[in-house]
Amino acid sequence: MTTTSNQMWGGRFAAGPDAIMEAINASIGFDKRLAAQDIAGSRAHAAMLAAQGIISDSDAEAIREGLLTVLSEIEGGRFEFSTALEDIHMNVEARLKDIIGAPAGRLHTARSRNDQVATDFRLWVRDQLDAADAGLQALICALLDQAEAGADWVMPGFTHLQTAQPVTWGHHMMAYVEMFGRDLSRMRDARARMNECPLGAAALAGTSFPIDRHATAAALGFDRPGANSLDAVSDRDFALEFLAAASICAMHLSRFAEELVIWSSAQFRFVTLSDRFSTGSSIMPQKKNPDAAELIRAKVGRIMGANVALMMVMKGLPLAYSKDMQEDKEQVFDAADTLMLALAAMEGMVRDMTANRDRLAAAAGSGFSTATDLADWLVRVLGLPFRDAHHVTGSLVALAEGKGCDLPDLSLADMQSVHAGITEDVFGVLGVENSVNSRMSYGGTAPAQVRAQIARWKERMA
Ligand code: ARG
Repeated sequence: MTTTSNQMWGGRFAAGPDAIMEAINASIGFDKRLAAQDIAGSRAHAAMLAAQGIISDSDAEAIREGLLTVLSEIEGGRFEFSTALEDIHMNVEARLKDIIGAPAGRLHTARSRNDQVATDFRLWVRDQLDAADAGLQALICALLDQAEAGADWVMPGFTHLQTAQPVTWGHHMMAYVEMFGRDLSRMRDARARMNECPLGAAALAGTSFPIDRHATAAALGFDRPGANSLDAVSDRDFALEFLAAASICAMHLSRFAEELVIWSSAQFRFVTLSDRFSTGSSIMPQKKNPDAAELIRAKVGRIMGANVALMMVMKGLPLAYSKDMQEDKEQVFDAADTLMLALAAMEGMVRDMTANRDRLAAAAGSGFSTATDLADWLVRVLGLPFRDAHHVTGSLVALAEGKGCDLPDLSLADMQSVHAGITEDVFGVLGVENSVNSRMSYGGTAPAQVRAQIARWKERMA
């Protein structure tokens, strides 16, 4: 089947594309999401062309006004996207021609779709970096509120998901603040590095017209124009950096989500998730499921998958532009939508959840969680080498286990049967409150240390 040749580049073509060619070639189905960025870029370009005397002021004015009309049609859902016109760039330009006529043909002077799409996509990703920044800040603030409320609530700390040592709720919340804080700084680093404008690189080599790339860069909020035209049109590092930062962030979200799934189970009951962020079962009336947490736990696969997919698109591509690069967008769109939703859902869950303080405290004291405190006491008070103290404590744990009790429930006589030097004083270090209060090392779990962590972060977030 042949159709009429393309109105934008059909000059050297006698026939239009096969339907299958059109289907594989067109990107309008997804790149219409770049409409606002495309129009902003074109408006900046037209203004610059006029300022440089490359097109007339009246043509530039008609172009800039006409583009606003196109934008309002798109935003109002009144725009008819055409697959024959391939992509957002040609759809917008063709409609501009319908609206303003001949001057529309001057817009594409001194540029190419290669620098155009690179500019549009950079602007779009920059917005996503800002959205992730805002989402992370909101989540960090929710965690800070939880940490502040429970700075001294004791809970078990785990290694290997086995009871290790008591920690505080605030300490656990603040661990995630550190993680999401690094995500925030990764988003900011990426934004600072990516904020260079490709526009004016044209197809690959720059242009013979006397354009002002600094002017368009400034008009679009970039720090500077990209320094090498070949690199400017062929670089997608900014998208890869966003996906890499998003993947790490999603991995953090999935770790926290997993903890919430465990903590909200009937066996743990460390937290109660709100009805607003839970679902029921259609068959088991007693069920309240942590679906939001489970979905957040799963999303990392999609986001990391996008990162891998784009890396595979880019690997081995010769300079400069290749059509492969049209495959950059869908992955990034999906990953960005997924990340923003996951961040918002996590923030909502954290804001709404209730820590079950009594359950946390009871669990904190079980599982011989203060065995290290006992060993430390043997070192500090009796002067035992730590290795010997470790051994004595191990024997005491075995003794308590045999009796079916916890360490503080052993009698002094029991204790002395393992090491004769032990005195009544030892019972002072076996309580969980004492255990956490004693961990005053910088960054440790003592409430005073946790409050210092919270204060540092509040200052950073102010
Ligand atoms: N739709 C294309 C993309 O997304 C725009 C650039 C087309 N450039 C070209 N030389 N065919 O990459």
